[in-house]
Amino acid sequence: TRVAVIFGGRSGEHSISCATAAGVLDHIDRERFDPVPIGITKTGAWVLMPDETDTLRLQDGQGAEVEDNGTFVALVPQNQHLFFWDTREAGSAIKDLGRIDVVMPLLHGPYGEDGTVQGLCEMVGVPYTGCGVAASAIGMDKGYAKLVFDQGGIPVGRYHVITDFAWRHRAASVPEEVRSFGLPVFVKPARAGSSLGVTRVTSWDDFEAAVSAARRHDPKVIVEASVEGAREVECAVLEGPRGSAPRTAAPGEVVMVKTPGLYDFESKYFADNAVRLQIPAEIPPEVSERIQGYARRAFELMGGEGLARVDFFFVEDSGEIILNEVNTMPGMTPFSLFPGMWENAGLSYRDLVTELIELALA
Ligand code: DAL
Ligand code: MG
Repeated sequence: TRVAVIFGGRSGEHSISCATAAGVLDHIDRERFDPVPIGITKTGAWVLMPDETDTLRLQDGQGAEVEDNGTFVALVPQNQHLFFWDTREAGSAIKDLGRIDVVMPLLHGPYGEDGTVQGLCEMVGVPYTGCGVAASAIGMDKGYAKLVFDQGGIPVGRYHVITDFAWRHRAASVPEEVRSFGLPVFVKPARAGSSLGVTRVTSWDDFEAAVSAARRHDPKVIVEASVEGAREVECAVLEGPRGSAPRTAAPGEVVMVKTPGLYDFESKYFADNAVRLQIPAEIPPEVSERIQGYARRAFELMGGEGLARVDFFFVEDSGEIILNEVNTMPGMTPFSLFPGMWENAGLSYRDLVTELIELALA
């Protein structure tokens, strides 16, 4: 089975996607699958990559980048074939690299986790791992995701969406509803990941600057009320085989080691010992059950396929559980909880990759 493994991409999470691909390429069962690594540069060119992972990892305080190596690849509609052209060789002809059986879009953020690549695969007619177009688009947009989950009876916390139109025509610098949340608030791009463009606002004087920072990633912004005393608990979901209920693994927890802690881009991937991944999370069994129930329900509500990681806040004192967000292509790096939570549930990283491919082909 030939698997096109696609990574990098145009989003701010480019380097994280490379690290996820390194994880998958290191663990894919090569007796069964023949991976074809395809990198997408930051400007969107598709290039054929060597099948090696050393250069893709997060290291030396920075991540990898897919360079434009002068090659050009394309998936062609109708016959699912991959075409390759080496622009470095004068007079080089376009080569047919053969048929691709399945695509693994290991892309995080816009132009990959948001339904765009999924739509391309639909057009080409090639099966792909993970969520489809609509579920990917819903999961990427924190505003739409909360609408869907709230409607389905899952607690999502207090939030306020600032559309581009609303911001341009604003009457006050801080919307009244936002002010009613009290400080601090979190200001986020509606469609971004890995905490890029996120600010914890502790003074209303800083609110405009925070919105501007978020708007550099996305003209649509979401403001969330802070959940005091919240612990960050994440739950891994896999589609059920042959139409059965989705499966969840026991949740894991991101424990902030440095205080005051913000689980931001730096602490997620680069700051040594800023966070500790605790698998399974040390929470009461009934809390774990409720979180897993919400995660399965969220997956169903959004029309999930393949996989997702649903992130929650858990407030120990009140027992409150709030769904924060969902990731339809969760990180699979050494700093990510998703593979570890399945490992803990008895599904090795290798079997997890196999499972994702088999679900796509089923
Ligand atoms: N957006 C990152 C990759 C994650 O949620 O794991
Ligand atoms: Mg999260």
